[in-house]
Amino acid sequence: TTDVDLVVVGSGFFGLTVAERCAAELGKRVLVIDRRDHIGGNAYSEADPETGIEVHRYGAHLFHTSNPTVWEYVNRFTAFTEYVHKVYTTHRGEVFPLPINLGTINQFFRSAHGPAAARELVASQAAEVDSAEVANLEEKAVSLIGRPLYEAFIRDYTAKQWQTPPSELPAEIISRLPVRYTYDNRYFNDDHEGLPVDGYTAWIERMADHPLIEVRLSTDFFDESQPINKQALVGKVPIVYTGPVDRYFDYAEGELAWRTLDFEREVLPIGDYQGTSVMNYADSETPYTRIHEFRHFHPEREHPADKTIIMREYSRFAERDDEPYYPVNTPSDREKLLAYRELAKGESDVYFGGRLGTYQYLDMHMAIGSALSMYENKLKPAFG
Ligand code: FDA
Repeated sequence: TTDVDLVVVGSGFFGLTVAERCAAELGKRVLVIDRRDHIGGNAYSEADPETGIEVHRYGAHLFHTSNPTVWEYVNRFTAFTEYVHKVYTTHRGEVFPLPINLGTINQFFRSAHGPAAARELVASQAAEVDSAEVANLEEKAVSLIGRPLYEAFIRDYTAKQWQTPPSELPAEIISRLPVRYTYDNRYFNDDHEGLPVDGYTAWIERMADHPLIEVRLSTDFFDESQPINKQALVGKVPIVYTGPVDRYFDYAEGELAWRTLDFEREVLPIGDYQGTSVMNYADSETPYTRIHEFRHFHPEREHPADKTIIMREYSRFAERDDEPYYPVNTPSDREKLLAYRELAKGESDVYFGGRLGTYQYLDMHMAIGSALSMYENKLKPAFG
């Protein structure tokens, strides 16, 4: 390892962006390690062996950004399809469009309101709770959108996500609940949106495909039985660490809480199961939160006419050995995070980044944008 200039722990978008920049622009030799047996972090996707359909192993990944720097950068490695994401939800045997919009409202209330009347209706229902005095997530949600819409579309779905009734969840989990007073149900409203034409893994592999980048998989930074470990390297070579920050410090300040997801895949002997890529299930009778049907992410591709693959998603609190997906972010977590940030300052030549290294939910464009900033503002000045 003395022959590398930088070690990157984690081959997700954060780690690979840093590696690519340091290799391609600075001519540095970069070693990227990952504890998993594949590259790409949570954006990794693979062809399902039975149907050939591209499956996002760690949950559906839709790329979208309004950041011109990030858009220019990602287009060096992949082209994007014209895919536009839309989500529907099933509630009491009826399907509604999301996010809550004029179509949802009129279908739900069996009305034909225009924007102004719908706004007035929602405001009058929301007035039931004084927004300055909300004590929990339920009251907060009612203060934002009123009780009928809350009970139909938010209450049970949120309870499934957190395995806790919203009346027992802190109000801070939501700051807003988007309601659109138009029929626009595009899920994202960024300038750019699409899916990588030949898949996430092909995109990610092109980022790592540089003669100065070496990737070693199935290599855990905390496994001292192999040479590329924390003990052996810290202080000897610059390190960009994108794993969990609490793990790095051996949980010295306590464990940061995460939610995880369980995914259940099934191949069905039909050409189309639900007619759309993502269907949420708003009610408590259905144990999963949503179903993904991957063929619909790529309508431009050839897919089998008699088979489809779906993935049911279940949500719960993560144990230490589960994949950490969404930060729980309670006041106690934020306190621990501050303590870890202090510890991180004391680590010489170790840069913490990415969603696990900073305990933040980051979309892909945010992870890439933040890696580009770390590169420009810290890494390039330090050893450029
Ligand atoms: P990421 O988690 O991808 O990579 C970290 C890597 O570090 C992992 O490969 C891990 O194995 C490795 N690692 C950890 N500890 C290690 C150790 N001790 N030794 C070696 N390696 C170690 N974004 C978006 O824009 N649109 C979307 O639709 C979605 N959808 C979505 C769904 C779900 C369920 C999740 C959880 C996330 C999304 N995202 C998303 C977010 C997206 O996944 C996220 O932006 C990227 O994964 C962030 O990349 P990072 O490199 O920060 O982390």
